[in-house]
This record gives sequence, structure tokens and C-alpha cells, in this order.
Amino acid sequence: MAHARLSAIGMAVPEKIITNAFFESLIETTDEWIVSRTGIKTRYHTGPNEFTSDLCVKAVQDLVAQYPAVSLEDVDMILVATTSPDQPMPSMACRVQHRLSLSRAGALDIYAACAGFSYGVVMATGLIAGGIHKKILVLGAETLSKVTDFTDRSSCMLFGDGAGAVLIEADETGNIGVGITGASGEGGPDLFISGFADNIDGQPLTMNRCIVQNGKKVFKWAVNKAIEQMPILAAANGLTLSQIDWFVPHSANLRIIEAICKDTGFPVEKTLESIVDYGNTSSASIPIALYNGIKSGKVKRGDKIMIFGFGGGLAYAGTVITW
Ligand code: UT7
Repeated sequence: MAHARLSAIGMAVPEKIITNAFFESLIETTDEWIVSRTGIKTRYHTGPNEFTSDLCVKAVQDLVAQYPAVSLEDVDMILVATTSPDQPMPSMACRVQHRLSLSRAGALDIYAACAGFSYGVVMATGLIAGGIHKKILVLGAETLSKVTDFTDRSSCMLFGDGAGAVLIEADETGNIGVGITGASGEGGPDLFISGFADNIDGQPLTMNRCIVQNGKKVFKWAVNKAIEQMPILAAANGLTLSQIDWFVPHSANLRIIEAICKDTGFPVEKTLESIVDYGNTSSASIPIALYNGIKSGKVKRGDKIMIFGFGGGLAYAGTVITW
């Protein structure tokens, strides 16, 4: 049986950096409130002519620049996790396939919001183990600034734009372990993008496409779900939590990560986050955190990394990678 190896990683963010001062002039808030309640100091926003597929292409180009030994010529599948595509059709994966001339690749978008990248890694691992594909690009990419309600003071300062890309290849040993996936679909009304229907679950919607969330409810669900699933995920991989070198949860809020660590006893200094510098980039948050952990030298070869994505759906997924 073939095994799946995560062999290379890249990322991209737009040029425009947005500090908390921007929101101080836009809504009733302060830098102090944003930092203390979320951890966020900066995030990046695309301009009017830059879209999710542009960030996807840049992230893959960065992957190739960082890992010049890899070849993308025989990539046979592209999975793009996004909740903010350029448009509903064509898929972002098809755009990437065309723009990077990956002529042998199938292309599919994954619509699992902040859990999307983790879902993608789990799916890619299965596709390789099943012998269906041999070389898969998995991306998490978002332009959340394009679906942000800038009048909503409880959410507009949270979101950022960015993309991460990993290459997952078949080899004899692999470095991606057993994955888990799950959903709490009843929580859908607590986190959604409005504007696709007049009403949903009895709630009237505006026609603007924007993220609507019940922050407090999602916060609690995310913490409880991570606490419940982390030991299960570790055990599925023959490990205990104390054998995990790095925990990379979705970066939605620094306080969520701290609460998970407090409850599980997992050391917070062994977590990788992207919330402080990039805000909540949904499906891109885990690959961006992982990329920076590797690039900074924190993550060493052989380290065991648990990724765990959670968010809109509500949905979650995770796996363990030995770097
Ligand atoms: O990525 C997908 C998954 N998403 C998440 O996991 C999001 C999880 N939720 C969160 O991160 C947090 O719930 C938020 C950051 C969204 C909100 O933080 P919170 O601590 O839950 O704040 P809150 O909504 O309970 O509001 C606390 C107070 C309120 O004032 P009072 O009623 O205590 O006087 C709000 O009016 O903070 C006030 N407030 C603000 N103050 C300054 C709310 N937004 C702001 C703001 N600036 N921007």
C-alpha cells in the first residue's frame, strides 16, 4: 500500500497589511481590546483586483521556490479548500490547474471552511493510500476581506486573506498518519456566509455576502471539540498527547488556543499559530502557521505535528504529520 508524505509547503499573503489602528478609525474599538480578546495585531487584505486564485498561484510558486527539488509536472490532483472563492464556478482548483499548466491534474474544491485544509490533507492521504493518485497539491486559500461585514464590530477585525499550499506524494513510508473528520451540522446557523437565500433556518438574511457568526457559541464549541478530539486523534496514531511535539489548531482566536491548552494540559509554547500576524485566515491558517514554524527552525525533522481544523459547518478534521 502506498503511503502519503507531506514533502513541501508554501504560502502567500497580499501586500496590504492592516493594523488594528485601521479598525479604530472604522468602528468603536481599540487596539487593546482586539489584542486582549483575540491576539490579533495585523492581518492582510487583498486589493479590488486580487482574488483567492491569485493567492493560490502565489502559494504554489512559493512552495517551488522553497523546495526547488520538487517537480510539479506529474501532479495528478489539486484540492483547494476555500470558503471565499473568486466565484462559485469554475472551482479554484481548476483555475490553479490552468494557470500553473498542471495538465495531468484533476481539480476539486473542498468547502469545509476553517476545517477545509485539514479535510484536504486527510482526503489526499486516503486518495494516495487507495492508489488513486500519486502526487496531490492541497491548498487552503481565502480572501475573507471580500466577505467581511465592515460594520459588524464583533467580527470585522478578525479576518485576513492568505493562502498555504502543501505537496503530498506517494512513497513507501509516508509521514501522514491516521486522520479524523466530523461535523456538528446543527451549528450551521452559528457561522455562515449570508446572501445566498432569503432566509435559512428561519433566519432572515441580507443580500450582501458576508460572514455572520455567533462568536461566543462557536468559541465554546471549538474549545470543547478540540479537547474531546485531541486525545482520540493521538490514540488513533498510537500516541499520547505528551508525544506530540507541535499542535497546530485553526487560528481563530489566541484565547481559543490558550483555553484548549489549559484544559488538556498541552503546553501552549508547543503550539503554532498564525492569528497574531495574519488574523483568522480560515482554511489558510493552519498551513501558514506550519510554514512559519518550519521556516523559523522551531519544527525539526522527525517532529510529530498534530493539525486540527474547526469552523463553519460546523465541521472539524485533523491528522498527525511526522515532519
Ligand atoms: O474561524 C471560525 C471559527 N470562529 C471562531 O472560532 C470565533 C470564535 N469567537 C471569538 O473569537 C470571540 O467570540 C470574538 C472575538 C468573536 C468575540 O469575543 P468575545 O470575548 O466573545 O466578546 P463578546 O462578543 O462576548 O463581547 C464582549 C464585550 C461586549 O461588551 P459588554 O456587553 O461586555 O459591555 C461587546 O460589546 O466586548 C464588546 N465588543 C467590543 N469591544 C471593542 C465586541 N466587539 C468589540 C470590538 N471592540 N470590536
